[in-house]
Amino acid sequence: MEVIRTISDLRARLSGEPRVALVPTMGNIHEGHLSLVHIGHAQAPLVVTSIFVNRLQFGQGEDFDHYPRTFADDCEKLAAAGNHIVFHPDETQLYPEPQVFVVEPPPIANKLEGRFRPGHFRGMATVVLKLFNAVQPQIAVFGKKDYQQISIVRHMVDQFALPLSIVRAETVRAPDGLALSSRNRFLCEVERAEAPRLHRALARVKEQVEAGDLNFEAIEFGADTELARHGWHIDYVVVRSRRTLMQPEDDEKELVVLGAAKLGATRLIDNLEILAP
Ligand code: PAJ
Repeated sequence: MEVIRTISDLRARLSGEPRVALVPTMGNIHEGHLSLVHIGHAQAPLVVTSIFVNRLQFGQGEDFDHYPRTFADDCEKLAAAGNHIVFHPDETQLYPEPQVFVVEPPPIANKLEGRFRPGHFRGMATVVLKLFNAVQPQIAVFGKKDYQQISIVRHMVDQFALPLSIVRAETVRAPDGLALSSRNRFLCEVERAEAPRLHRALARVKEQVEAGDLNFEAIEFGADTELARHGWHIDYVVVRSRRTLMQPEDDEKELVVLGAAKLGATRLIDNLEILAP
């Protein structure tokens, strides 16, 4: 597996490649990321995984400095999964000067995750656009685990007419239902045992809505209460339209329940798609 650290080396290496799949990551590779690599493989003969911890998308007091950086380990896992190229720029490569041009996402970026992480999606969209320009892939694979992120990325690709397609990957979970995440490593043993309750609460919401109960507020309140009773600090558990991530229209069927909550110091997010009857 090749490791490339500069945009110019990457451009030289990729010139003439007919079809490239990009998997953007911040490293600390787990099975969730590897599933994106496998999907990339199925779609293109050359898979590039980028590893870059993007300062721009971390707010003050967030974990940029403590974000797990495990490059050697990541490379082993990516190589074993058949990834071809790791693009691993440092900050001077991606941000040689302060990034004054940014992608300003639409107002939905200030809701849900954006309400609790101001500026997060501006920083995310900016680096993703930059990675798309550096790699110029024909496809890019993102996980549904970060549902709002993928929705904003698709909208950006659409509005800027970027010449690539976005492929969406299902969330990979531990056997007990917990969505794999780099942040899971911050959970102590007791918290790790408690953590799958978030997925269970969302699964219960999905079950209720799919059984025909459309009183979303009451259902959401039920999930909040259940989590709070077990020591969670809830940011939101809401049923939304998959298309807009806003409150669903009366007859909307394609829904998603999104949840974010803190267990001790660790903030976890998860979601499940719902098909209303
Ligand atoms: P990161 O959190 O490293 O995630 C990289 C990709 O892996 C994202 O598309 C995310 O949705 C996906 N992913 C994470 N956990 C997953 C799981 N359990 N199952 C399936 N996919 C999973 O998301 C980012 O990095 C950054 O915001 C980035 C897009 C790289 C921009 O900096």
